[in-house]
Order: sequence, then C-alpha cells, then structure tokens
Amino acid sequence: MLRGKHIILGITGSIAAYKAAYLTRLLIKKGAEVQIVITPSGKEFITPVTLSALTGKPVVSEFFTANTGEWHSHVDLGLWADAMIIAPATASTIAKMATGVADNMLITTYLSAKAPVFVAPAMDLDMYKHPSTQNNLKTLQSYGNYIIEPASGFLASGLEGKGRMEEPENIVAYLENFFTKEQKFAGKKVMITAGPTYEKIDPVRFIGNNSTGKMGYAIAEEFASQGAEVTLISGPVNISCSSNIKRIDVVSAKEMCRVSQEEFSNTDIAIMCAAVADYAPKEYSSTKIKRTGDLTIELVPNPDIAATLGKLKKENQILAGFALETNDEEANAQSKLDKKNLDYIVLNSLADKGACFGYDTNKVTIIGKSGEKESYPLKSKGEVAKDIVEYTYKLLK
Ligand code: C5P
Repeated sequence: MLRGKHIILGITGSIAAYKAAYLTRLLIKKGAEVQIVITPSGKEFITPVTLSALTGKPVVSEFFTANTGEWHSHVDLGLWADAMIIAPATASTIAKMATGVADNMLITTYLSAKAPVFVAPAMDLDMYKHPSTQNNLKTLQSYGNYIIEPASGFLASGLEGKGRMEEPENIVAYLENFFTKEQKFAGKKVMITAGPTYEKIDPVRFIGNNSTGKMGYAIAEEFASQGAEVTLISGPVNISCSSNIKRIDVVSAKEMCRVSQEEFSNTDIAIMCAAVADYAPKEYSSTKIKRTGDLTIELVPNPDIAATLGKLKKENQILAGFALETNDEEANAQSKLDKKNLDYIVLNSLADKGACFGYDTNKVTIIGKSGEKESYPLKSKGEVAKDIVEYTYKLLK
C-alpha cells in the first residue's frame, strides 16, 4: 500500500528522533519514496548524513543552500507528497503547526502540504498532558490532521507515563491502514453511545443490564478507520478502543445524557447504541442497605437520551438509534424512530439466535425515516458495523 507513495518525513528536536532513522528504513522497505525535512533542533539529535544515506536524497532543513543560494521550494515539496508524517513531533512544533508560525522549512512545508498529515507526538508526560499541548493537538485534529497518539512507558526524562513516540512499526501500520481504507468520513465528527448504564442503589449495588458494548465499540472503530473523528461515550464495559477514538467513560444514564448533550452540538452523526437503563432509584442510600425483610425500591424514569437529542437535532445532523425487541419488532422499532425523531433505527431481535447481548454476531434490519427497510443476514459485529457505517454514508451523500 505504501509502494510508490511520496512521503515527507518531518523530524523535530526530540530524543525520539533516533527512531526516525528506523522509521525511514521501514518506509523505504515498503517501497515508499521518502523526503526528510528536519528542523534545526532536530539536527542536534540525529545527523542528516545518516538520514540521507537511508533515503538516497539530500535532507532538507534550510530555505536556501548557503553556498549556492539554491532555494528549496516548500511549495513544490508540499504538492509532491502523498502523505506527510511528523515523527517525532515536539510540543513546540505542534504549537507552531496549530498557529501557523512558519519560521522553519518543516512548518512552511506543512502549511503547503495538500496531502493527509500524520503527527506522532513525543515529549515528557507532563508536557503532553498540559492543556496547551492538548488544545494544540485538538486544533490539528480540527484541521483534519491525524494524531498517532504516543504510547505510555519509560521516558528519556527518567519518568514513566504517556509521551513515548509510537514505535516505527506501529506508525507504518497506521499509514498502511489509512491507505487501504477510503477516508469517506474525513472531517466528520461522530458520536456514539455504547454499553450499559449503572444506576446506583447504594455504595455496592446498582441496576444494570447485560450489554457488553461490543456493537457500539465496533461501530466506533469502523467510523474511525474511515477517517471520522469519533467520540465514544461509554458505560461500564470490559473492552478497550483504539487510541484515535476519544472515549468518555460514564456510569449512569443522567451522566451519559449530560455528556451526550454537550458533545451533540459539535457532532455530524450520532449513533445511540447504549442500552440505557430506563429507570433509576429515586433515592440513593449513602450507606449499604441492610437486609430487613421486604424491600421496595422506588424507581423514577431516566431521561431518554436519543429523544432529547432528537429535539435538538439540526437539519445537517444525522441521529440514529437501536431497537432491541422481543415481539412486534418492526412496528415497535418504527414507533421509536418516530417518537425519538431519528433518521434511522437499527432493529435487532432477541428472538434471533446469535444476535444481541454478549454474542460476537448480530442480525439487524435498518429502518429508514420513511419506512424503507434493509435486512441483513447474521454477521460478526464488525461486519454489521460496516453495514451501518455504509448506510450512514449513503444518507450523508
Ligand atoms: O426506547 P428504547 O429504550 O427501546 O430505545 C432504544 C434506543 O434509544 C437506543 O438507541 C438507545 O440507545 C436509546 N435510548 C436512549 N436513552 C434512553 C433509552 C434509550 O438514548 N433512556
């Protein structure tokens, strides 16, 4: 997938620059043509001689070659590229990219590049966590750049935490994955609710349900792999998601509702996949309830998150939900679609073997706003996610 691809590798002044030599080697082995652009401080960490020996091309760093006056065109370079990777990307370079401080060849090339840009940050854990760095990374994402999140582990400072540049093999895998998938949802913001909600009765007990979150997580992964910026609002589950998905953990329906409303105004597509508890205890007991004969717990309805968003929905937003039914499936699903003002609803039935809770497979029918139906056979949840994402893409078009 990387064969013949023109790749600009931007290297900045981080100790992780030593990994850039290996990254260059891997890209070349995959058949890519690599042009290195290095910042002045990058050269303090790795010599251009090593890098140009690997790429077979002079490393670009200055706007001019001092003795000949030859000008290096960042504009031509920017147009030549099929992808630009900045690895390692320091906090300083990330800030300059976010604000357009074009005081070196790497940033001018970045500003001229029309190709997708991938940023692999590398810095100390506190620098990475700092709101300034985090805001700059969010800004880059909003420009459509892809952030290859740093890994956690031993850092050059001697501390341990998140900030290690992702390993070269994983950066190459990320790029290969990018080029194999069509980035249909680039620039689109997708929000997904997933998993169950837990409604606390006392410090040790709650009302919950059997949802594992597998379906919602599979949808989140599929959207992300097709270029969407995904926010996953997750109830308590035992699964993890890719680092390019923004996961917000919640526990109760009220919490999920609050976060969903906050995120929704900045969302193009919202898929409500969570199995939200319909009721919560009216009173929470701050001490463990003792066994004393019969116990009645008064329950009050939780907010309907999908219906709440349905009321807020604007013309250009897509809102979809799920219906898990046991009987009168289609009629029930259709009535939920209308009541919650959804654009489509994904119906799955507990009557179908291998579908719904806990299984790795699911069997769904998607019902559209005007009652049109598409039924799919029993498939893995990953494949069902692809169908749902494709259906959404058709609506978007
Ligand atoms: O009404 P019912 O719970 O069957 O509707 C299911 C759909 O509504 C799902 O998409 C689910 O995520 C959503 N829902 C919600 N908030 C609730 C209940 C359901 O968002 N309180």
